[in-house]
Amino acid sequence: MSGEVGIIVDGEPVSGRDGQTIAGVLIGSGRITWRTAQQGERGVFCGIGVCHDCLVTVNGVEGVRACRRRAVDGDRIEREVRR
Ligand code: FES
Repeated sequence: MSGEVGIIVDGEPVSGRDGQTIAGVLIGSGRITWRTAQQGERGVFCGIGVCHDCLVTVNGVEGVRACRRRAVDGDRIEREVRR
């Protein structure tokens, strides 16, 4: 659909606006965190690609910064757990 982007987040369909980052789509869907680290639950901290708090797996590729990666229709996003 024009103007929208549809991604799959942990198996659940989520939609956002075309041009949004993955983090933008996740936040727009009500998610605040999407990664479990030793320090606890993480999401966006800096929002500019520096802190790496927002890492997700995108289409099987681990360690993608959600705040820097534009959401593409059909992307499959999985939360990451690092212990
Ligand atoms: S929020 Fe800091 S790198 Fe994405």
